[in-house]
Amino acid sequence: MPDPAHRRPPSRVPALMLAAVVALLAACAPDQYPQTTLLPRADFAKASDDIFRTTLLWATIVFVLVETALLVAIWKFRNRPGAAEPVQTHGNTTLEIVWTIIPAFILAMIAVPTVRTIFQTAQKPGPEALQVEVIGHQWWWEFRYPQLGITTAGELIVPMGRTVSLEMTTKDVLHSFWLPQFAGKRDVFPNRYNNLWFKAEVTGNFPAQCVEFCGIQHGRMAYRIISKAPEEFDAWAANFNQPPRDFSADSTAPALVKTGQQLFTMKGCIGCHSLYPALPLTGPNLHHIGSRTWIAAGTLENTDENLAKWIQDPQGWKEGVLMPNLGLTDQETQALVAYLRAQQ
Ligand code: CUA
Repeated sequence: MPDPAHRRPPSRVPALMLAAVVALLAACAPDQYPQTTLLPRADFAKASDDIFRTTLLWATIVFVLVETALLVAIWKFRNRPGAAEPVQTHGNTTLEIVWTIIPAFILAMIAVPTVRTIFQTAQKPGPEALQVEVIGHQWWWEFRYPQLGITTAGELIVPMGRTVSLEMTTKDVLHSFWLPQFAGKRDVFPNRYNNLWFKAEVTGNFPAQCVEFCGIQHGRMAYRIISKAPEEFDAWAANFNQPPRDFSADSTAPALVKTGQQLFTMKGCIGCHSLYPALPLTGPNLHHIGSRTWIAAGTLENTDENLAKWIQDPQGWKEGVLMPNLGLTDQETQALVAYLRAQQ
């Protein structure tokens, strides 16, 4: 008889393992990962997701059937003491036909929708789609809307429910454009144009990321995709299509903003950064920079503090970026921040 005092306490291992599995599954909730492809938010992404799920379903069926047959065979035909030698066979026409037809059928079930989706997603939308030219730079993305006369950077703003047709290229090296929950990936090449399209089905502000190694700051070549309700998008486009605000003759403008405007010219910012909606220059167009949600190619939230940090020490945040450190004093930085913040 075991002594009850020495009985082992109930093991906590199964309960802990169960808790770990539950925690792991909870951590897989796709909405916690804004760059997941498992939560499609546009027609293009849904089409790719359907292919993924179809393939996964067939792969699971094959896995379960093959592993079950294997385990049954191992168990049923295992060696027993004193067992006679098994019947020796060679070849079985029926089996050979069956295991040729079944895989061919499964491959067809995967290949037909895959090829159909490849052709569907390679099509170019008609002129009713919103056209956007996407241009990769080391290390930021430029977006031009030829139908609207808009040039912007770092934020791709689209209307929900309308097909967006992207024509994509790069000014320098290879980059790869990716909108995780909206569309697939497309590499971009100099002097060559690639296409991508999608129709956003939700509104919101989502992160995206260059996915081709393109130099030391590849990791900080991020951007946002912002989907707006159609009327909000129209209001944005109409408001965007205004010349930059000029404070020099505005008696109500704060002195700091006026100083910032002068510094923008004196410090040479104006040589690379356009403040006009349709004029592209070497650096990102800064029209309406004040109302953007992220700056520094999607790597810093657009707060006054971050804007100051970025313009005072761009090399400290993104070493190797074209924008030099200008040796701005704190006062000069604050004036430039005030001026840029007023651009909205
Ligand atoms: Cu551009 Cu990586």
